[in-house]
Amino acid sequence: MMFVLLVPAVLLLAARTTLVNSVASPLTYEDKDPLTGEPVQCDRCPPGAYLRASCSSTRETQCAQCPEGSFTELWNYIDKCLRCGVCGHNQVVKKACTADSDCQCECKQGYYYREEFGMCVRHSECPSAQGVFTKGTPEKNTVCHVCSSNTFSNFSSASHNCTAHKNCIDAGLQMVLSGSTWHDSVCANCTELKDGADYLREIIPAFFVHQKMNIKRLRRIVHKLPSEDGKKKGRTSELNFSELHAQISAWAASATAKHIRQFPDMLIKSAANGSGERLQTKLNHIDAHLIEQCGLGSVAEGVESSA
Ligand SMILES: *[C@@H]1O[C@H](CO)[C@@H](O)[C@H](O)[C@H]1NC(C)=O
Ligand SMILES: *[C@@H]1O[C@H](CO)[C@@H](O)[C@H](O)[C@H]1NC(C)=O
Ligand SMILES: *[C@@H]1O[C@H](CO)[C@@H](O)[C@H](O)[C@H]1NC(C)=O
Ligand SMILES: *[C@@H]1O[C@H](CO)[C@@H](O)[C@H](O)[C@H]1NC(C)=O
Ligand SMILES: *[C@@H]1O[C@H](CO)[C@@H](O)[C@H](O)[C@H]1NC(C)=O
Repeated sequence: MMFVLLVPAVLLLAARTTLVNSVASPLTYEDKDPLTGEPVQCDRCPPGAYLRASCSSTRETQCAQCPEGSFTELWNYIDKCLRCGVCGHNQVVKKACTADSDCQCECKQGYYYREEFGMCVRHSECPSAQGVFTKGTPEKNTVCHVCSSNTFSNFSSASHNCTAHKNCIDAGLQMVLSGSTWHDSVCANCTELKDGADYLREIIPAFFVHQKMNIKRLRRIVHKLPSEDGKKKGRTSELNFSELHAQISAWAASATAKHIRQFPDMLIKSAANGSGERLQTKLNHIDAHLIEQCGLGSVAEGVESSA
């Protein structure tokens, strides 16, 4: 459905018409002859025109075309066309104003019309673990759905649907962590063995996107991220969510396996107990699968003794 501007002006005209002229033809109106003072039936002006001069007993109604930027939509006897509407904030012209119709507006790309606010608002994004079921339109918001089994989404988006988990076996690899709604499956190559923590690092960025952690706690965690040289991160008090997530991703990509392995415990010590425990559970699964799939006694020692 479109929404049309300046509806009230048109309604007003219609109302006035009914009052003046409840019985006569809808295409005429009653006026007084300027010379005799007797009532006369005058023709109305068609849509796209306005009344320049009323009729008399000897002269027909004179109409004139609406000037550029104005319009009339109904048969009328107004002495001035209505001014064309102007599209509002976050709107674009859907149909330009013509002499016989006002312009129509719609929400611009990425926005939809919110009836209760009477304005265009941004399409919602579907959070991680959910995909876009139906994309938003100028009239409707995005519709999200929870990713079904074997699919995932690891970021918020107003356009992205869930994607299928990768298949480790088809790629000639072993699966060490099965995919969930918010992360992909994690595969290992048993002939190129790595510490279990090296597989956990793949899902750490998605983990923090998915956890709805408050920003203070996230800043404290980023501040405490250990680095090679033992130095902590600098000021984190002014970083926003996207910057904090970027720092965690960068850290996860470059941290040593030892630091990654200590990470769940660090979360617990930062009072993010639940998150720490969930990540520890993921690491335990990876370790167990590595032993099972790659036939190892103990993964951590296995890596060291083979080095
Ligand atoms: C998203 O995926 C679901 C399930 O496969 C499908 O029914 C839906 O049509 C998809 N939506 C879009 C926008 O592709
Ligand atoms: C697994 O690692 C070995 C040794 O590096 C390599 O030759 C092989 O191509 C890898 N397999 C896959 C499927 O990547
Ligand atoms: C999301 O998953 C894809 C595919 O596994 C991966 O390449 C990407 O880095 C992930 N993004 C985040 C934020 O974890
Ligand atoms: C976060 O801060 C950066 C740099 O100040 C800025 O470019 C970005 O738009 C901010 N992101 C959000 C989501 O506010
Ligand atoms: C989180 O851990 C701290 C310290 O180990 C403990 O005092 C607290 O009770 C724990 N909170 C929850 C909710 O488990």
